[in-house]
Amino acid sequence: MPTIQIRTEIPGPRSRALMARREAAVPRGPYNSAPIFMASAEGATLEDVDGNRYIDFAGGIGCLNVGHRSPQVISALRKQIEKHLHICFAVTPYEGYVALAEKLNALAPGKAPKKTIILNTGAEAVENAVKIARAYTKRPAVIAFNDAFHGRTMMALSLTSKTHPYKAGFEPFPGDVYRLPYAYCYRCSYGLTYPSCKVTCATALEDAFKRVVAAESVAAVIAEPVLGEGGFIAPPKEYYSVLQEICRKHGILFIADEVQSGIGRTGKFFAIEHYGVEPDIITSAKSLGGGLPLAAVTGRGEIMDAAGVGGLGGTFGGNPAACAAALAALEIIEKDGLLERSTALGRKFAERGREWEKQFQVVGEVRGLGGMCAIELVKNPATREPAADETRKLARYCYEHGLITITAGTYGNVMRILVPLVVSDAQFEEGLDVLEAGLAHVGSAAPQRQFVTSNL
Ligand SMILES: Cc1ncc(COP(=O)(O)O)c(C=O)c1O
Repeated sequence: MPTIQIRTEIPGPRSRALMARREAAVPRGPYNSAPIFMASAEGATLEDVDGNRYIDFAGGIGCLNVGHRSPQVISALRKQIEKHLHICFAVTPYEGYVALAEKLNALAPGKAPKKTIILNTGAEAVENAVKIARAYTKRPAVIAFNDAFHGRTMMALSLTSKTHPYKAGFEPFPGDVYRLPYAYCYRCSYGLTYPSCKVTCATALEDAFKRVVAAESVAAVIAEPVLGEGGFIAPPKEYYSVLQEICRKHGILFIADEVQSGIGRTGKFFAIEHYGVEPDIITSAKSLGGGLPLAAVTGRGEIMDAAGVGGLGGTFGGNPAACAAALAALEIIEKDGLLERSTALGRKFAERGREWEKQFQVVGEVRGLGGMCAIELVKNPATREPAADETRKLARYCYEHGLITITAGTYGNVMRILVPLVVSDAQFEEGLDVLEAGLAHVGSAAPQRQFVTSNL
């Protein structure tokens, strides 16, 4: 029996009535990918207020790697709320915070002893990572990349790349942020092709120290190991080791922003593990909380201790219930084999994607790293002109046919898959069938091209 059950027109009457209330009560700023109000969720499925059932390929923007309402997460939460809900780590500490820090320290790549501070959101983690890097290096500047997304608070926004809708109108931003092209091989800023390019996009960092900002002024280079909002782009395998070698040479810290790519999404706990690189600082959030808001900054002990006593923190950071949920989520990923599951889902997506590249002209590139996979849509595979309208149409087709998706990419032309890793094979296939029908709806026949599973 299929999971998807559509009983009303989409959005249904109750969703439409709630949308009228939403429009009156909530500013237009917060975007809704689909104009459907959800009533309940389980695993990889959602049910709306009109009784329609969907498969969820968005996972609350990558926050539900362990699935909606995971029974272990709920049981851990129940136990915690019987004890205490909020005490504030800045007032008196409690064990859950320390236990989660210990767990993340152990999971972070590299043998050097680590320390972790726990916060609420990805943007807050990024803000704190920058504070810590500046405190440690006593330098001001940060280098970020084109197409990066690091959050919506002011420093995070300064590091974020995309102008509309994220940055425009909100200027001025905190300064001393510099930007380089990312390893976006499908649209290489240098007009080169991998591997003959010799990862010029990484070695360009050395050049930037002559042309853009002096190396001795730079506290950190921050990068998403796999670009999230920017379009699910996994750089070639040597990219991060080249980047980090240059950073080390100049005493610059490397911050891996794993807010979207971490916590098992790519088939490793942290995506940077695919590259054999040990970042100085890692930010994590989203799926860390098992559905609750939680974020963390993990780094080498001496770096994390650079900020003075009272220099870091916040009222709700490391909320006991969120810590309990996170400890349960991390245990599920390990015990239930979700890293292997992510790899298997990525493989399945690649198989279907290879067929779509042959079938549909609108499919420019299908790519991915484990379960972090995407389709970049183009008007014409030869010109690679981004197909934003078609991508919007595809997302709409999907939700009207029972599949909740989200798009990505600087050009708004990427369909990204952040399905809960607990999705069943049957549900995943059913979701891919909707996606395929949607591609047929917006696309046309294509010449044969190469599938890219990443250059790793
Ligand atoms: C890589 C990355 N960093 C930071 C953020 C910001 O996280 P939050 O929305 O929790 O503030 C995001 C959110 O999508 C992200 O993908």
